[in-house]
Formats: sequence, structure tokens, C-alpha cells
Amino acid sequence: MNQAKGLQTVVKNQANSRRNAASGAGGAPLPRVIAVTSGKGGVGKTNLVANAAVALSSMGKRVVIIDADVGLANIDIIFNLRPEFNIRHVISSEKTLKEVMVQSKHGIQILPGGSGFADLTQLGEGEKLNLLTEFETLAGQADIIFVDTGAGISSNVLYFNSACDECVVIATNEPTSITDAYAMMKVMSREYGTRYFKLIVNMVDSAAEAKKVYASLSGALDRFLKNVVLEYVGHIPFDRQLQRAVQKRGLVADLSPDSASAQAIRDIAAVLGRPPVKQNSNGNLTFFMSKVFQTTT
Ligand SMILES: Nc1ncnc2c1ncn2[C@@H]1O[C@H](COP(=O)(O)OP(=O)(O)O)[C@@H](O)[C@H]1O
Ligand SMILES: [Mg+2]
Repeated sequence: MNQAKGLQTVVKNQANSRRNAASGAGGAPLPRVIAVTSGKGGVGKTNLVANAAVALSSMGKRVVIIDADVGLANIDIIFNLRPEFNIRHVISSEKTLKEVMVQSKHGIQILPGGSGFADLTQLGEGEKLNLLTEFETLAGQADIIFVDTGAGISSNVLYFNSACDECVVIATNEPTSITDAYAMMKVMSREYGTRYFKLIVNMVDSAAEAKKVYASLSGALDRFLKNVVLEYVGHIPFDRQLQRAVQKRGLVADLSPDSASAQAIRDIAAVLGRPPVKQNSNGNLTFFMSKVFQTTT
């Protein structure tokens, strides 16, 4: 091959790899997969995911929520949906993802978890392949995929976190929430090499209180986990209007859009909606591992 021809090939390959990095198999832009997690349960993951999804959807983004939280307040409850099927039907090949997903009135696509996530890490190769193949169909149909992962360092939660592009940790100003958030990041970094996390502090009285939580967590990371970076995203104030919305099986974004928490979550959603400066590329062979879900770096 002569020199000019060789150069042409290099340029062409570079252009191809750039295109592949930014788009899925059919050339469509790839969705960003954002895991929302916490050390301790009941800190507001489900409400953040649901209300941020509403905000992003009203900004014109196509949003999918995967409910992997087997806690009490599931996504379908606060969206007031009664799904017939859940991910278990996808894993077993009884249903396609399309058949199982339900749509909220905002146009958000929701994959109900049900109790289907009990033993994801125990799935056989065939079942994992079913899931992978189905998730690949989401490429080109979504801009942002939120995964409400549930709390704690159970294998399912870690599995989902490690499979996602970005890992958002929610904590409150309670000592147990802070230590459990730290423990979660420690395990994620040790077991899966995750180096980059984002923090949202919920149920605080002020921005200053949230910053203190951030300072204590990032201080601990600096001391004990030198390679781990924690970015502060924002805080959500403690707000009875959010609680009232939950009691009505609703979203504060719909029922009290002017409340302090709804406004704060809108601001947070705007930050989350921006393409990340850094993200994790763990290269794990998890169900999101397929090249279809690789995003630009
Ligand atoms: N900003 C907030 N202000 C007041 N209460 C909140 C707030 N966020 C969450 N909560 C309360 O915490 C409960 C648990 O929230 P949820 O989103 O289900 O947490 P998780 O998904 O982390 O278990 C909610 O039902 C609500 O009562
Ligand atoms: Mg939850």
C-alpha cells in the first residue's frame, strides 16, 4: 500500500470509529445509561428518578426507566401504573421488551421490575443473552436510560451499577446514609474499578447542609480511596409536598410543580441531561456491555 493510500485508510478508520463511538448499529445516537443508587434505602432514589425523568422528558429527551429497585415505593406505583408484565417475562423470553414496557402520560417508557430482579447475577448464559438482545433494541429509541438500582451492596445493585455509564449516588445527612454511601463507592471501586461518581444530597434544609455531606464523603474518599472522584450535582430540600404526592401515588413534578423539591429536581435533571465530562468505562461483560451502549468519551 502506498503512503497516500495508507493515510486515507487511517483517516477513514478514525472517522468510522468516531461514528461508531457516538452511535448505535443503525447510526442512531446512543442512550446514556445512568444508574441511581444509594448505600441506604429510603433516601429518595425512586422519587429522584421519576421526577428527573419527567423534567428531562419535558426538555424533549426520550427517557426510559428501568426499575431495578425491589424496595417499597416502586416506580410504577408513583407513576400510578399497574403493569401486567415485568422484566422476568423478558428474561424468560415470554415477552419482548416492547411488550413489557409501559408508558407514562409524559411519554416515559418504564420497564417494571416487579420481583423479577431477585437473582439477576444467577442468570444463565441464555437468559443473559435474551436480556442483552432485548436491551439492544433500546438503542436509537432513547436518549437517557435511568436505572433505579435499589440500595446497598447486594450483588444485583452492584451488577446494575457496574453496567451503567454513570453512577449517581444519593445520600441524606444521616450518619448511616453517609457511611453506607461511602461503603457503596468503596465496593464499586474495588470490585468493578468504578472511579467516578456523582452525588445528590436529599432531604436537607439548605445547600450548606448538602455541601457538608459532600465534604465529608469526598474527604473520606481522598483519604482512603485516592483514585475515586466524586462530583457534586446538587441537593433536594426536605419537602412535605413531595411526601404528599407520594401518598397520592403521584409525582411532585405533576402535583406540586412549583414546590421547592420539584424545582430542585428540575435543576438536577438539567445537570444530569448534559453530556458527562468523565464517565466510567468498566468494560464489564454485563448486559449493558454491548458496544451498542458505549457512549462517547
Ligand atoms: N426531598 C424529600 N423531602 C421529603 N421527603 C422525601 C424526600 N425525598 C424522599 N422523601 C421521602 O422518602 C420516601 C422514600 O423515597 P424513595 O424515593 O422511595 O426512596 P428510595 O427509592 O431511595 O427507597 C418517600 O416516600 C418520601 O416520603
Ligand atoms: Mg426506591
